[in-house]
Amino acid sequence: MQKIVEKYCELPKAIRRPLWQLWHNLMIRFDKDKAATFMNYGYATLNGEQVLNLLERDEKDRYCIQLYDHVVNKVELKGKKMLEIGSGRGGGASYITRYYNPESYVALDISKHVIEFCNKYHNVNQLTFIKGFAEKPPFEDSTFDAVVNVESARCYKDLDVFFSEVKRVLRTGGHFLFADMIRQNEVETIKTQLKNCGFEFVSEENISKNVVKALDYDHLRRENLIKEQIPGFLNKAFLQFAGTKGTERYESFANGKMEYWSFVLKKN
Ligand SMILES: C[S@@+](CC[C@H](N)C(=O)[O-])C[C@H]1O[C@@H](n2cnc3c(N)ncnc32)[C@H](O)[C@@H]1O
Repeated sequence: MQKIVEKYCELPKAIRRPLWQLWHNLMIRFDKDKAATFMNYGYATLNGEQVLNLLERDEKDRYCIQLYDHVVNKVELKGKKMLEIGSGRGGGASYITRYYNPESYVALDISKHVIEFCNKYHNVNQLTFIKGFAEKPPFEDSTFDAVVNVESARCYKDLDVFFSEVKRVLRTGGHFLFADMIRQNEVETIKTQLKNCGFEFVSEENISKNVVKALDYDHLRRENLIKEQIPGFLNKAFLQFAGTKGTERYESFANGKMEYWSFVLKKN
C-alpha cells in the first residue's frame, strides 16, 4: 500500500479513480473522531508569521486552511457563485463559505461516500456537496464566478478536458483558482495547457518552500493523528500520503523534484 501511495502519480490514470474511492473509504472507517477534514499539504509563510485570524475550532487545521486561503484571497468572493472541484473531506469548502461569504458554494468530488460524509458533517448555509467528475461537471455554461481546485487535478484522466470544462462553467470575467503539486519537469507543459485553453494568467507562484514549511510545522499533528487512528499495517501508507518528514513525498518537495504551484487565472 505504501508503494502505491508513493508512486501514485506514476500509476495508470484509469486506476486512480477506484484508488480514491478506496482511500476515502479507509479514512471514513478509521478516522472515527472525524479529525481530518483536509487532505492537502498546507501552506506557511517563510518567516512563520500567522497572518490569518481563525476561530478556535479551526486552529488545528491552520496550515491546510492557509493553503486554501492563499489560493483564493486575491479575488473578491463575497456574494459570488462558487464551485470547488475535488473538495475531498470538505474542510476547504467549509472554510471559504464561512469566512468569505459567497452567495453559494457547490463542492464536487468523485466519491459517493465522501460526499455523504461531507453532507452529514459540514452544516454550513450556502454550501452543498455533490458527487461528480472533474472532467464532466454537471452544470450549464457560464454558471460560476469562481472555480476552486486544490491538490486534486494531478489525479485526473485528461487535464485538457478538465481545463476546458472549468472554462465552460465559468462566466466571462470569472476566475479559476488552482493549486497543485506538479513534477518539476511537467510545470511548463501544464502552463502551456492552461494558456492554450485561453486563460489569462493573473498570477502564478511556485509555493514549494511554503508547503515544506507547513509540513515542518504540522509534522507532529499529522503523525499523531495517524498513529492514533490508523491501524499499524497502514501507518506507512498514511504517513506517505500525509507527507510527514522522512517520507519520499516530503523529500520530493524538499529536494525540488516535486514542485507546488498556485495560479489565479481569468476567463476573458
Ligand atoms: C488530495 S485530495 C484534496 C482534497 C481537498 N481539495 C483538500 O485540499 O483537502 C484530492 C481529491 O480529489 C478527488 N478527485 C480525484 N479525482 C477526481 C475526479 N476525476 N473528479 C473529482 N474529484 C476527484 C479525490 O476524491 C480527493 O477527494
